[in-house]
Amino acid sequence: MSQWTATRIADHIHFFLRGTRLILVSNREPYIHRWDRQALLEPVSKEPAASDTGRWNFDWVLQVASRVSQLLRSGEGIRWTHAAGGLTSALDPVMQACHGTWVAWGSGNADRETVDAKDRVQVPPNNPQYTLRRVWLSEPQVRGFYYGFANSALWPLCHLHLERTLFKPLHWRHYQEVNEHFAETVAQECQDQPATVWVQDYQLALCPQYLRRRLPDLSIMHFWHIPWPPWELYRVCPWRRELLEGLLGNDLLGFHLEQYCQNFLHCAERVLGASVDLKAGVVEYEGRETWVRPFPISIDYDWWAGLAHQRRVTRRLTQLRTKAELAFPIIGLGVDRLDYTKGIVSRFQAIERFLEKYPDYQGRFCFMQIAVPSRTQIDDYRQVKEQVEMLVEHINSRFGTDTCKPIHYRYEHLEPPELVVYYRIADFAMVSSLHDGMNLVAKEFVASQVERKGVLICSEFAGASEELDNALLINPYDVESVADTLKQAIEMSPEERTQRMTRLQEHISEHNIFKWLAEIFTELERIQGERPVAAPASLESRPSSAAALQRP
Ligand code: F6P
Repeated sequence: MSQWTATRIADHIHFFLRGTRLILVSNREPYIHRWDRQALLEPVSKEPAASDTGRWNFDWVLQVASRVSQLLRSGEGIRWTHAAGGLTSALDPVMQACHGTWVAWGSGNADRETVDAKDRVQVPPNNPQYTLRRVWLSEPQVRGFYYGFANSALWPLCHLHLERTLFKPLHWRHYQEVNEHFAETVAQECQDQPATVWVQDYQLALCPQYLRRRLPDLSIMHFWHIPWPPWELYRVCPWRRELLEGLLGNDLLGFHLEQYCQNFLHCAERVLGASVDLKAGVVEYEGRETWVRPFPISIDYDWWAGLAHQRRVTRRLTQLRTKAELAFPIIGLGVDRLDYTKGIVSRFQAIERFLEKYPDYQGRFCFMQIAVPSRTQIDDYRQVKEQVEMLVEHINSRFGTDTCKPIHYRYEHLEPPELVVYYRIADFAMVSSLHDGMNLVAKEFVASQVERKGVLICSEFAGASEELDNALLINPYDVESVADTLKQAIEMSPEERTQRMTRLQEHISEHNIFKWLAEIFTELERIQGERPVAAPASLESRPSSAAALQRP
């Protein structure tokens, strides 16, 4: 068990902050409010909307109108959900422990109805612990900034899918504009008081520089949740200088892996001509230093394990096992945002090959795929969805019957209490990312293994594989060997399963999200301790970079 708990990290961070505020900034918000259509129509749904002759039933219309207006006024028809994705699920427990302010895009269709006059709402909605400050984006901004530059240029670039990158000047302008907007909102939240600002991810690469211009002495750090590409690929970006300059507004920049840090440092050196110390992990550019460090993110292990142990989870598990579609001796599991980087197509190709090569398993094996809808307005995402669904149909018609299908596919977002039931029911889980910053599903699966009988199959190209050497590692491009690894996982002895899972659990319970956080804040404190108290020194007035940049 880790020495780092929610309480301990809260104390640690409060000490570090010394009465100043923590402001976390991300594109995605942790809690989304949406109108619940069902609730709006339920009380009147039994009335016929029109008579037999086709005329409108005015009583019905009046009832609907008055119900809708009552619900709009009272906010009763609003539901909240957690956002999908590793970033928010990892950082929400952190903010609950530290009670700061989280600034994020208000993307839910009922988000405006739930904020106060200053666009703030207290969250979690059922047990408020911190403030969520929502930022509003216009439709063209969402298209240009979010679907455009962030997810059609930076995302594929950082995940090494050059053929999918789309570099449009209009998208770039929106990206700049939205980053300015975020910086302005954060500056307002700082209220000219000292604060530590923690920016998240690739949607906000320019925000640190824009903030630095407004508040030069602010303590700013950034965590980049996806890979950073090697220079040979990064250089294709038309705004390669601007993005690097944006990020060099930070005091500390974190990546999951040392490899991504090295890639970034090379880019800063080659693109900007910055002075870089690869060994120490520091860039000096225009009189400022930015430290670049690896911090592999994790999960709130105890929270997931606690959830998995709940009695209602065990009850639901027993119910599910009797359901026809899951009544198979062997159950595999995949949980992913429906994204081309997750390698879902190659996973299914390997499953098909497995059933073909080892026919004894036909009829005895079922793979449960939970595909979470994501970025559905982007063509590449629609295409991969079509491809995945065609493959599911193909495999099910090739190896299944009307009542028994080898692939059980759900296209929806599941909240943790339901997700954890699937984590527990599975004999193995498969992460087959083609390239992935970390992948927290792998870690959640491990934390939820109450009986320690599940096997984790993990792609070598997911950051998580560096820590999880007791998983079965795969190269998702090698379909034949993945099919064999499936067999190995299924046939693994109970002793070996328990042994591997125990080691994985020991590692993740020790290296939990709070330890990750402690390491980041300790590093920031060290940097601040080293930094001269006066305003940023010019290059000339500093000691030579080699001497100044030694690791302690
Ligand atoms: O971890 C990468 C990431 O893009 C996060 O920034 C994001 O919150 C998550 O995946 C989900 O993606 P999106 O916010 O585009 O739904």
